[in-house]
Amino acid sequence: MEVVIHSSVEQLARLAGDAVEALLRRDPEAVLGLATGSSPLAVYDDLVRRHAEGLSFARARAFLLDEYVGLPDDHPERYRTVIDRELVSRVDLDPAAVRAPDGNAADLPAACAEYEEAIRGAGGVDLQILGIGTDGHVAFNEPGSSLASRTRVKTLTEQTRRDNARFFADDVEAVPRHVLTQGLGTIMEARHLVLLAQGRAKAEAVHQLVEGPISALWPGTILQMHPHVTVLLDEAAASRLQLADYYRQTYAHKPSWQGL
Ligand code: GLP
Repeated sequence: MEVVIHSSVEQLARLAGDAVEALLRRDPEAVLGLATGSSPLAVYDDLVRRHAEGLSFARARAFLLDEYVGLPDDHPERYRTVIDRELVSRVDLDPAAVRAPDGNAADLPAACAEYEEAIRGAGGVDLQILGIGTDGHVAFNEPGSSLASRTRVKTLTEQTRRDNARFFADDVEAVPRHVLTQGLGTIMEARHLVLLAQGRAKAEAVHQLVEGPISALWPGTILQMHPHVTVLLDEAAASRLQLADYYRQTYAHKPSWQGL
């Protein structure tokens, strides 16, 4: 796990953007894993800037991490709508090549199995962008999730519904209780995981993620078992890290050829 701490969110976003650009230059048909939430927004802005400067997404494919159950297709907070707004419509990604779990399917378990199959059929995710919840959830894998879980229906914790109420005019009751989410086992199969976290509210979850014991209580801790994880943190999100100085030194002396 590589931990990069920087005071500028734009700079962190640039690092994630560098990794996406390097991947697409290597393989224009690469499969991107996209996350919603506020944490990756600066990355999407960075990718839009790169697109304006010539980076093409035209042959790339993408999979979302998760989706609310039961939000109407035209709801502005439906994750598929959010990602269209924040990224797809601003670059040349083909909307038909971007998939999200179907939170309105008549048969939700079948939709989850189909989603797993679609990811597998695309050859797996090359680079997965991730955020983390204040309770340590990754995608919508809440505490207690099986560390080997696959795409399935989950029930949100009250904490997550409260956290996400800001996207629903501060009305907790408007936040769906159920979601479809890639499992931790699914996410662990992506080849490179790039997780972003900002702000003091994330500090404990980040400390657990990077330095805590692996436990279903902090689902993100399973990432410690992944061979290629990059954690991009602002100072506040890094404020509870025990080995912060070591991570800073390591990054400061990183060979320039190494990349993320
Ligand atoms: C949401 C999403 C996650 C996201 C997390 C943090 O509920 N399902 O994918 O990483 O919670 O959100 P934010 O980045 O807005 O803090």
